[in-house]
Amino acid sequence: MRTRFSDFRSDTVTSPCLGMRHAMYEANVGDDDYSDDPTVKKLEEKVASLFDKPSALFLPSGTQSNLIAILTHCQRGEEVITGKEYHVYAWEAGGASSLGGVIVNPLITDETGALNLDDLKISIKKGNGHEPSTRLLSMENTFGGIVQPYEKLESVVQLARAQNLSTHLDGARLANAVVKSGNSFNSYGRLFDTISICLSKGLGAPVGSVLVGAPNFIERARRLRKQLGGGMRQSGILAAAGIYAIENNLNRLSFDHENAFFLAKNLSQVSMFRVPLNIVHTNIVFADIEPENAQAMYNHLTNDKIKVNYPEPKRINGKIWSRFRFVVHLDINQEDINKLIESSNNFRK
Ligand SMILES: Cc1ncc(COP(=O)(O)O)c(C=O)c1O
Repeated sequence: MRTRFSDFRSDTVTSPCLGMRHAMYEANVGDDDYSDDPTVKKLEEKVASLFDKPSALFLPSGTQSNLIAILTHCQRGEEVITGKEYHVYAWEAGGASSLGGVIVNPLITDETGALNLDDLKISIKKGNGHEPSTRLLSMENTFGGIVQPYEKLESVVQLARAQNLSTHLDGARLANAVVKSGNSFNSYGRLFDTISICLSKGLGAPVGSVLVGAPNFIERARRLRKQLGGGMRQSGILAAAGIYAIENNLNRLSFDHENAFFLAKNLSQVSMFRVPLNIVHTNIVFADIEPENAQAMYNHLTNDKIKVNYPEPKRINGKIWSRFRFVVHLDINQEDINKLIESSNNFRK
């Protein structure tokens, strides 16, 4: 019998369970480009009400959700301030700049993903003379699985608001932050003008993100979605998976968090790895290895039928490490975790 791969690359790799597939099969659909798909409407209303926001828009991906949020907030030549390692700047193929002419100003964050208030203060520009005009602050929570302390988010948002900036939260994994911190979705909804949340990460849906905000904002976002080719037709089939995910897969995220912490504690005993336990808050575990051993460890794990992304180079306290990222999710069970621990222990240079 072929052994199955244990896939730690991301929480995006999950397959819809039978219950979710059943909900998709049963979905009542219309044509959402004519705004008459009842299941899409139901999902949008559900997510809007979670955040206590008046409106929401269902989108195909988190990247498109963030892109559309930025392009709706900012005109060409205006600036968004974000974190240098946030997804919006580092992993979205420069879409806001290349497609929307928006200047992305990435600030250095600390290891937990927090922005420095003074850096933020001196980076906001009024658009006087030769300067671009800063329009938006875009934050991220969780950041690499790390839950941003609510009070810190509050301080940066207050500062941004005082300078008349709009605020957006990339909440691709906000569900993990909600379950871990006990802060409600609507507490984040109160803080930010707009939030995007992914259904296809820890929540386990195959596709989809929802952007929430004010009605006139969402109307403009809907037009941009059309311009970018993201208008969908019988997308109620996908929205049904999202509704199922919110109703069934939210509270179970705490199991992923416990599994991730168990994994992290055990990997921290493996001599080849340096595991920063202090930043394992939810479902993501980082393990750093000397760069000269990275390829061999990667090959070793692959041979043991463990799928991981090739480790990224990362400077930590002046030294370059290779950083593995292990993501725990719906399709990772205790056996997969034990397999990864055992395989790492068996690695020899
Ligand atoms: C923090 C964050 N934001 C946005 C995204 C983009 O989501 P998608 O892959 O659906 O475009 C990701 C994807 O991993 C992410 O980790």
